[in-house]
Amino acid sequence: MRQHKLALCKEHFLDWIPEQTARFIKKYEMFTHHEKVLVAVSGGKDSLALWDILVRLGYQADGLYIGLGIDGGFGYSSESHRLAQKFADENGLHLHVVDVESEYGLPVPVLADITHRGKGRPCSVCGLAKRHVMNRIARDLGYAVLATGHNLDDEAAVLFGNTLNWLGDYLKRQAPVLPETPGLARKVKPLCRFYEREMTAYALLRSIEYIYEECPYSAGSKTTYYKELLNQLETERPGAKLTFYTKFLEARKGGLFGEPDTNPTMELHPCTNCGQPTSAPGLCSFCRLMERAASVLPGTSK
Ligand code: AMP
Ligand code: FES
Ligand code: ZN
Repeated sequence: MRQHKLALCKEHFLDWIPEQTARFIKKYEMFTHHEKVLVAVSGGKDSLALWDILVRLGYQADGLYIGLGIDGGFGYSSESHRLAQKFADENGLHLHVVDVESEYGLPVPVLADITHRGKGRPCSVCGLAKRHVMNRIARDLGYAVLATGHNLDDEAAVLFGNTLNWLGDYLKRQAPVLPETPGLARKVKPLCRFYEREMTAYALLRSIEYIYEECPYSAGSKTTYYKELLNQLETERPGAKLTFYTKFLEARKGGLFGEPDTNPTMELHPCTNCGQPTSAPGLCSFCRLMERAASVLPGTSK
C-alpha cells in the first residue's frame, strides 16, 4: 500500500482492515456496540466485506438486500441476490430482502422508462428507490444506523464531481456520518477511507464470493470517468486520493462550507403517503414517482 508506505502479509492485512475500521467508527462517532446496525448489501465486494468486518468486530449487524430487477443480459440482480444470501447463510446472519417489483409493481428500469425519468439510464430512479427502501426498513424495524459500503474511490469521485461544479449543498452534506433527523435513520460509511483495491484484497483473502460485474448501467457514467481520472493522478502521486478526501473532511469540519450538518433553509415535512421526511409539503419524490407510474400503468402500487 504505497499510499501508507506499508506492506502487510495476509494475516496482518486481515487484522489491519478491521482495526482501521474500528478506528474510523470511533473517530467519526458512527455507532456503538449497543446500537443495531442495518448494512445495505448489494452483493458486491465492499458491502459484503463491510458486513464481514462489522460482525468480526462484534457489532449487531443485519443485512438488507434490495432487488432492483436489473438484468443486463447476465441476471445482475438475481446473481447479486444469490451471493448476498449465500454470505448470510454461510455466516448465520439475517438478511432482509425487499424486491422492488414484488412490492411496488415494477422493476427499476421499467419504472424509469415509463415515468420518463432517465430512459435507458435508470440510475437516478434506482438511487431514489434504494434510499426510500433503506430508510423505510431501518425506521420500521428499529435500526439505529444504516451502513453502506462506499469506499474511498466512491467518495473521492463524488467529491471530485461536486467540486468541479461547486455544488455547495452537496459538499456540505458529504460526510462519513449523516446524523439522524426525525423519520430518517443515521447513515454511515465505515469504509470511506479504504481504497477500492484494499477492499478487493480483503474480500479475496477472506474468500468472500461477490459479484465481479458492475451494474450494467454504470458503464460510461460520470462517476466511472472521475474514478479513472483520479486513478491516473494516484499512479503519479500515491496517496493523492486519500489526501483529497481527508483534507476535504478537515476543511469541512473547520467550517469552509459553513456550519456542517445543518441546513437552516430546508424544512422537512412528513410525506402524506409514506410518512418519510420530504422538503416539499405533500408527497415525497419516491411517492410522486409511483403516482406517475400508476397514472401510466394502473395497478402499480403507491
Ligand atoms: P453503489 O451506489 O452501487 O455504488 O452502492 C453503494 C452502496 O449502496 C453499496 O456499498 C451498498 O451498501 C448499497 N447498495 C447498493 N445497491 C444495493 C442493493 N441492491 N441492496 C442493498 N444495498 C445496496
Ligand atoms: Fe442502480 Fe445501476 S442503476 S445500481
Ligand atoms: Zn412518500
